[in-house]
Amino acid sequence: MDKSKRAAIIAGNWKMNKTQAEAKELISGLIPAVKDAGCTVIIGVPFTDINVAVEMTKGTNIHVAAQNCHFKESGAYTGEIAANMLTEAGVEYVILGHSERRQYFAETDETVNLRTRAALAAGLKPIVCVGETLDEREAGNMEAVIERQTVGALKDISADEMKNIIVAYEPVWAIGTGKTATADQAGEVCGLIRSIVAKLYGQAVADALTIQYGGSMNPKNADELLAQTDVDGGLIGGASLKPLDFAAIVAAASK
Ligand code: PGA
Repeated sequence: MDKSKRAAIIAGNWKMNKTQAEAKELISGLIPAVKDAGCTVIIGVPFTDINVAVEMTKGTNIHVAAQNCHFKESGAYTGEIAANMLTEAGVEYVILGHSERRQYFAETDETVNLRTRAALAAGLKPIVCVGETLDEREAGNMEAVIERQTVGALKDISADEMKNIIVAYEPVWAIGTGKTATADQAGEVCGLIRSIVAKLYGQAVADALTIQYGGSMNPKNADELLAQTDVDGGLIGGASLKPLDFAAIVAAASK
């Protein structure tokens, strides 16, 4: 299928950065910088910046994502945020299963799946992250890890619900390290993810799925990564904190 028929999506992942005052400054810089984007633009902000982000981006082409949500609707889960709390606050997307959540906060394939289902049920669009560590890659286990994480995250999700899912391939060894996967490596694994989705849901669902690459994407390497047939966008950490860098990646995805 022609890649141009899939939505190109660039999402920023601010991680645990930006107070409300700093968020205001960053968003003020971003709004004019991405206003002519030819792709979908999302900013993934900390919970405390959601209100500021939703208010400031009203009437613009920027959409707001949260960086996690819980799988229960409410209850005794101290420190957690429910999916419907996010939709009520005006959030449209949610990043789930990020490797930092898996590594530092005990996320498993099962909890990523539960969160993904809860997010869909609340009307959020999940950006589901998968990716292997360096050890896993070097041991020759990349394919098995990607398959296990992809199949695990999508358990009990219907073909219809897949329309609202984005998958991000984020090799753990390339995140925040300045080390980028080569365009060929990114293209190969995004293609592998598409083939796994095709096995689960059929080719039409797989062909319509937006698959992002994430891991040290920047204005210099974005063109080459995004030129890969199966790379439909990017999940951007460090470079999303700089309006001009983020805008340059958005421009690369808009071509
Ligand atoms: P990075 O982060 O662009 O800083 O490598 C990407 C991510 O973790 O989403």
